[in-house]
Amino acid sequence: MEPDLVIALDIGTTYSGYACQFRDTFKTNPTEIWMNSSWGQAIIANKTKTCLLLKSSEEIVSIGDKAEFEFFQMYDHDRDLVEKDYLFFKNFKLILYKEISEDPHLAEDYFSRRKSIKLVMSKFIEGLVKHCIEKFTRQRRLSISDDNVRWVITVPAIWNENAKSVMRKAAEKAGIPGNQLILAIEPEAAAVNCLYLSVQERSGLDDLGRVGDKFMVIDLGGGTIDITAVEVVQNKPYNRLKEIVGANGGAWGGQRVNEAFQQACHDTFKSKDGKSVFIKCRRADLLKMENEFERQKLSIVEGNPEWIEFQLPHDIRDEIMKDVKQEPNKYSKYFQIQKNGLFFNSQIIRDVLFQETLKMTVQHIHEKMSIINAAHVRKFILVGGFAESPIVIDEMQKQFPDKKIFVVINPFYAVLRGAVLFGHEPNVLQSRISRFTYGINIFVYFDPNVHSPDKRWVAKDGKIYAKDVFGIHVKTGETVSIGETRPPIEYLPVYQDLTSIRLNVYQSTEKKPMYVTDPSCKKIGYLDVSLLEPIRAKQKKKIEVSMVYGGTELTVKGIDKSFDLPYKVTIKFAHEN
Ligand SMILES: Nc1ncnc2c1ncn2[C@@H]1O[C@H](COP(=O)(O)OP(=O)(O)OP(=O)(O)O)[C@@H](O)[C@H]1O
Ligand SMILES: [Mg+2]
Repeated sequence: MEPDLVIALDIGTTYSGYACQFRDTFKTNPTEIWMNSSWGQAIIANKTKTCLLLKSSEEIVSIGDKAEFEFFQMYDHDRDLVEKDYLFFKNFKLILYKEISEDPHLAEDYFSRRKSIKLVMSKFIEGLVKHCIEKFTRQRRLSISDDNVRWVITVPAIWNENAKSVMRKAAEKAGIPGNQLILAIEPEAAAVNCLYLSVQERSGLDDLGRVGDKFMVIDLGGGTIDITAVEVVQNKPYNRLKEIVGANGGAWGGQRVNEAFQQACHDTFKSKDGKSVFIKCRRADLLKMENEFERQKLSIVEGNPEWIEFQLPHDIRDEIMKDVKQEPNKYSKYFQIQKNGLFFNSQIIRDVLFQETLKMTVQHIHEKMSIINAAHVRKFILVGGFAESPIVIDEMQKQFPDKKIFVVINPFYAVLRGAVLFGHEPNVLQSRISRFTYGINIFVYFDPNVHSPDKRWVAKDGKIYAKDVFGIHVKTGETVSIGETRPPIEYLPVYQDLTSIRLNVYQSTEKKPMYVTDPSCKKIGYLDVSLLEPIRAKQKKKIEVSMVYGGTELTVKGIDKSFDLPYKVTIKFAHEN
């Protein structure tokens, strides 16, 4: 059923937002997308900081810039009270990028208290949705449970299935009905946005989004670089894209400039004992300094360098200033200590901090390009807040002279706009390239010419098997169509008297991994399939495993084939243990 309204949430590493569009508007004027433009204390329009303030009881106090503002207000007023009664989280999305182990993922607040990332994400989504409903839908009497709304949440292309599943479960916990929720891959959403640019917005790139056009999208966000490349295969009556280069990326982005600034401060201002004076600072105070820097970074324009006062938190300023000495290093000329505080020269941002981050970013893009064989794609579309910066655009042009570099208007919210459009056209990506090989662990008859001796396993009935064998269902680099069910594969349990069987699901970066224990393999979840007695005599217990791929999320199903009514189970991801 087509939704009457699409609401998209883009939860970024550093900034988040929401956007809405009615179906009728999409049909008549697709570029008209509603976004909240007043986020209170926000320094950037349309999105707010990815921050969450909770009471210790886990009740939401506020989200976004407001959460940070309120946290600091309380912190400055009564630090002990805020530490006792509140939790403040920021930049928690990056936790999901880290390789997910079997342990629950923990997000740490500013007083080092830990909560599961699913809880933190869910509270943030709940706050974002509430804000959205208040701002956009209240007059229209809509609610989160309305069945005519389709919800879209964006996820980075580089996330694995487990991380995507955490996001889905967090959204469902926040009250979004699972059957009305789709996940959009961030650079793919940005690619969809390219199909709907007005003539003015695409000026200089008239063929962008026409049938046959191929382009690469590079999402330069706060925490990640996300890359994907598509070919436009159809425009009418629907848009259809084909992924031509597998998505890839890494943990680089605008946030690194801020980190580089902090590092420069640590390296430059030392106590008499030779250690960084900032070691004495509390995390919340360092965050205040970072915010001040972020504000300065966003406002730098080409022009004369300026000396900017570096706002040190009051209660540590005097102590630090007493003790501080300036180390001679490559940053020294950009810093000055004066009686009333520390100053930095705005030139350091352009000359040093951006350069260092950009060098790594570009090197990273070069590396990823070589892996994904993108030589034949001539057009690079830059999106993400980091692409707002002219310094970044210049560097990309310099580094990739044979490519046409194009920055969409307002790259900062291109993903968000694209996510809404994707919500109206969820089948727009007609095929994708599998990033991993997926499969399950199986036993096969042991062949000494093929299997290594340590995998030899003798069953109770004396039959000899090779254990830990990777039963491949989808191979990395394979093109899979949307919703395509890979041919199901039947397996016989080793023992016929088993009443249930656990199938572990693995991913691998290799095309043909031999064993699930190979270094390239990682368990992502499992299925527990019950094995009922077959109803016909002599019939054997059998399981059928199928994987549905090509969509934004992988689904794995197991069916007990020995019983007439198929008993289905779906994969439980590692975080659901
Ligand atoms: N004009 C600008 N100059 C430099 N950097 C900028 C500018 N505007 C935004 N940024 C940076 O872009 C980043 C935010 O971009 P964006 O909102 O696309 O990221 P995100 O969605 O939060 O992160 P991700 O997509 O990686 O999860 C921040 O690091 C911000 O400092
Ligand atoms: Mg983003």
